Amino acid sequence: MPLVAFAHILFHLYKKVSHQAPRILLTGGAGYIGSHTFVKLREAGIEPVILDNFANSHPAVVDRLAQITGAPVLLERGDVLDQPFVEDVLRRHAPAGVIHLAGDKAVGESVAQPLKYFRSNIGGAISLLQAMEAVYLPVGALGAPLLVFSSSATVYGDPATVPITEDFPRGHTDPYGHTKLVIEEMLDAVRAAQPAWRIGVLRYFNPAGAHPSALIGEDPNGTPANLMPYLTQVAIGRLPHLRVFGGDYPTPDGTGVRDYIHIQDLADGHVVALRALQRTGESFTVNLGTGRGYSVLDVVKAFVDATGRPVPYRIVDRRPGDVAQCYADPSRAKALLGWEARHTLEQMCADAWRWQQRNPQGYATGAA
Ligand code: UD1
Repeated sequence: MPLVAFAHILFHLYKKVSHQAPRILLTGGAGYIGSHTFVKLREAGIEPVILDNFANSHPAVVDRLAQITGAPVLLERGDVLDQPFVEDVLRRHAPAGVIHLAGDKAVGESVAQPLKYFRSNIGGAISLLQAMEAVYLPVGALGAPLLVFSSSATVYGDPATVPITEDFPRGHTDPYGHTKLVIEEMLDAVRAAQPAWRIGVLRYFNPAGAHPSALIGEDPNGTPANLMPYLTQVAIGRLPHLRVFGGDYPTPDGTGVRDYIHIQDLADGHVVALRALQRTGESFTVNLGTGRGYSVLDVVKAFVDATGRPVPYRIVDRRPGDVAQCYADPSRAKALLGWEARHTLEQMCADAWRWQQRNPQGYATGAA
């Protein structure tokens, strides 16, 4: 028997007898969604290995995660586009699966620099999938490849009606959304060609809020593009007022309606998705949303009620590319995974605000 194969067997025997928690590779694990998912995985007895290049996240996250969970963090600093590196990470940690969150996500930037997005998001997914193929697919290797992919409600483009079910036609309104759609299509093709793959596609609606400890939260680079971090920065005085994009949509109060989901619920969704793939071996695509739509003015009101802070706002022109309404029918996630969102919009506002107050400049000079 070749020495390498012998070493491999010894390694697996060691893993079986040592009571080591099963590992999961978490790409983009230092980001907003990744950091909250990390905590939920550890709480579930799973050991996440973070792969992150910190292009859009802060290294301080790692210490905060150790603080919350009370144990050191396994970190592989590097780029998901670097396929030999990803292969090496997979061979060394032998994770039971991969949760792939790494990627770029700023819609406006994707319109200005589409190639950056095609390269990082689509290129990153190809690199990861090929590394997984090389490590998991050969007979006698680690076992069937298992992947949870972070997709987005953006793959519904401009939906004809709401609530949105998973079988709505897919589309896109910008290059960022296009990359999510292409990756979903790639995953369809991979699964068709190689049925051993177990793939869970999670279509997120609008994540908001923070961990109740306020040690981790959303820390966007520059001026926030998304509503909740913009609101908290207005409330803390970093920005003068909220611009409400459009007051003439065909919605009850004329402002855009979205499905805001607490980051803790979203993070839970990853753990249950992983468990379901391991238990059933069946691939799936599910919406992760609450099923409730709130307008921009509903969110402003909930924020003021939850925090007692005034939020000056002005209604301005519509933002190009925005849709009037977007909210989920989350019943498939409940039926398949037994998952449903539990937190209210008020909790999202209160937790986002606590994070902002304790970390007025985000991770850079946070006081937590
Ligand atoms: C946006 C992206 C979406 C991405 C998601 C990630 C666009 C067009 N879409 O979704 O592809 O998956 O973020 O979280 O950017 N709003 C204001 N003022 C602001 C900011 C937002 O009025 O300063 C309004 C928007 O018009 C919208 C709602 O708030 O009605 C939510 O906006 P946002 O948080 O940017 O999320 P989406 O646009 O739904």
